Amino acid sequence: MKIIIDCDPGVDDAIALLLALASPEIEVLAVTTVAGNVPAERTFDNGRRVVALAGRPDVPVYRGCEGPLLGPLVRGKYSGAGGLGGSLLPESTAPVEAAHSVDVLIANILSAAEQGEQITVCTLGPFTNLAVALAREPFIARGIDRIVSMAGAFAAGGNRTPSAEFNVLADAHAAEMVLRSGVPVVLMPLDLTFQALATPARVADLRGRGGRITNLAADLITFYDRNDPARYGEPGGPLHDPTVIAYLLRPELFGGRPAHVAVELAGHHSFGQTVGDFFNTTGKPANATVLNRLDAPGFFDLLWKRLAKA
Ligand code: BDR
Ligand code: CA
Repeated sequence: MKIIIDCDPGVDDAIALLLALASPEIEVLAVTTVAGNVPAERTFDNGRRVVALAGRPDVPVYRGCEGPLLGPLVRGKYSGAGGLGGSLLPESTAPVEAAHSVDVLIANILSAAEQGEQITVCTLGPFTNLAVALAREPFIARGIDRIVSMAGAFAAGGNRTPSAEFNVLADAHAAEMVLRSGVPVVLMPLDLTFQALATPARVADLRGRGGRITNLAADLITFYDRNDPARYGEPGGPLHDPTVIAYLLRPELFGGRPAHVAVELAGHHSFGQTVGDFFNTTGKPANATVLNRLDAPGFFDLLWKRLAKA
């Protein structure tokens, strides 16, 4: 399966990249980075560090949009100042690509569409790059089979405001543009990703598997530990972004349902909230599949095994 990963590394983005790069079922055509957890310059540098760590400097990493289409800049809170838990990863030897993430998205998807193929676009950060690409070249919608995104919050409530999840809040207009694009979207909202909880016992299991990447991954995850048992039911931090890649590999670990999803763009208290019409009160056709059930033991078994093999 050919994919592009659009991301803002970010600790959990880094773990998601490592999972994708360790998975032979997946061909990562490009990693397009965007401002989000940290500024664009850092997400780009972090992306290059991760592909080098994975021993895959052949996978090109690009720098993308510097901030949201509209509205204030919102930064991530949990990945440390540099975005990767205080730069635990070595400097990258991967090339410094000059092309912009938006151009790369358009070029790859157009070339697939011209050959009658389609690409899966995974987004692990704010939707800015993809929204700009779709606005510039709406035709690319035909070259995307689905957009699989870590984004949104429904019954779980938000993580950056009472109602908004970070990736949507950081560019709510872009998120709405993507949801309106006509391309099927699969959403991994907080309702699902809070179940992907890296508890101390699970991190100890990862460390016990040995190897350089497993240890570095365990260090990153430990740094990222939100330790908010009141919210998650147990100690630990949720590994949001790797759920996107795990879904491509093992969709049977996930459950959810289709709905029409819109982003609140006018609310004062609820700006950036994802509103799901699960009972079709509006009569609008579903534009997304919203996942809210995770087989957490199955997810961690897959993730830890692949990291140990990386
Ligand atoms: C999302 O926000 C970021 O901080 C994480 O990388 C994840 O993509 C969770 O709300
Ligand atoms: Ca992210």
